[in-house]
Amino acid sequence: MIKKEDLYKIGIGTWKIDYENFENDIDALIHSYNKGENYLSLYMLYNNGEVVKQMKKFIDKIDREKIFINVNLEPTIEKIEDVEIQLNEYLKTLDIKYVDNLQIHGSFISKIPLIDVYKEIKRLVDIGKVRYIGISNVNLEQLKEINNTVKIDFFEGVYNLECKLYEDIGVLDYCKENDIKFICYQPLRRNRTAKRNYPLLVELAEKYKKTQNQIILNWIINKKNIMPLIKSTNIVRIDENIEATNFKMSNDDYDKLDKFRNIEFDNVEIDWECNGGVTIDQLANQFE
Ligand SMILES: NC(=O)c1ccc[n+]([C@@H]2O[C@H](COP(=O)([O-])OP(=O)(O)OC[C@H]3O[C@@H](n4cnc5c(N)ncnc54)[C@H](OP(=O)(O)O)[C@@H]3O)[C@@H](O)[C@H]2O)c1
Repeated sequence: MIKKEDLYKIGIGTWKIDYENFENDIDALIHSYNKGENYLSLYMLYNNGEVVKQMKKFIDKIDREKIFINVNLEPTIEKIEDVEIQLNEYLKTLDIKYVDNLQIHGSFISKIPLIDVYKEIKRLVDIGKVRYIGISNVNLEQLKEINNTVKIDFFEGVYNLECKLYEDIGVLDYCKENDIKFICYQPLRRNRTAKRNYPLLVELAEKYKKTQNQIILNWIINKKNIMPLIKSTNIVRIDENIEATNFKMSNDDYDKLDKFRNIEFDNVEIDWECNGGVTIDQLANQFE
């Protein structure tokens, strides 16, 4: 079993895994695993569970004890029993005895008090079906409220060069102070950030002889101490992403990346209650 502190610096994302032609993607997943990537994030929501079903084939080909499996509760929790029902669906589909981390996809999925959901997750830890407790897409107040009752181990949230909201509202600092590992999704904004050719990224890519995406990942991992979840089923890009951590930039250059802002994203108001506005999980998709 993999401990929280033994996770590789990059996690495996699964959005847009090609479940209809999985034989093409499975080799890439095995390649990531062989290179050391040992955190796998799964969402039953993707293609109505089809991606998770295919993932069983991947897990069957590797050592289950050497992969850390994170799963998400979604899309709706109506009653407390739904928590274990949804977890059981993952266990059955993947034919595994426990998951390593269980988290909600966002506070908005719960129709019952979130604190009750988390007390139930804690019960599932106590009976051995879950090892660690995670949370995703909540704000600082919600995180504090839950963490004061049920100790949180992992926080999954959007963070990249252009979307620094979780830093602005104090979640990154709170996670650091409370030993909660922050994992970011959409670190490359699905390659949209690099496509914008920001002068700073172009300059640093030339200076260090790296790609713009490698500059972004290096800063996220080495400077911000955040584990990015990246989806790639392209072996060249998987290696490119892994190589991104093997160099150092100057403190001045890290500072420039720290200070980088994109006003477009800064101006988006997040609808934390899911009342029809932009929810936090939609932030990174707002602009091309
Ligand atoms: N909790 C949440 O609300 C939430 C929300 C969104 C995502 N997630 C999780 O986080 C994971 C990562 O986010 P994401 O997949 O949305 O975005 P991402 O990892 O930023 O981008 C993935 C896309 O970028 C491409 N890519 C990967 N490395 C690249 C590189 N070096 N150069 C150019 N293109 C590259 C991939 O294509 P190829 O495969 O062709 O390389 C894929 O199309 C997801 O897969 C999912 O598991 C969670």
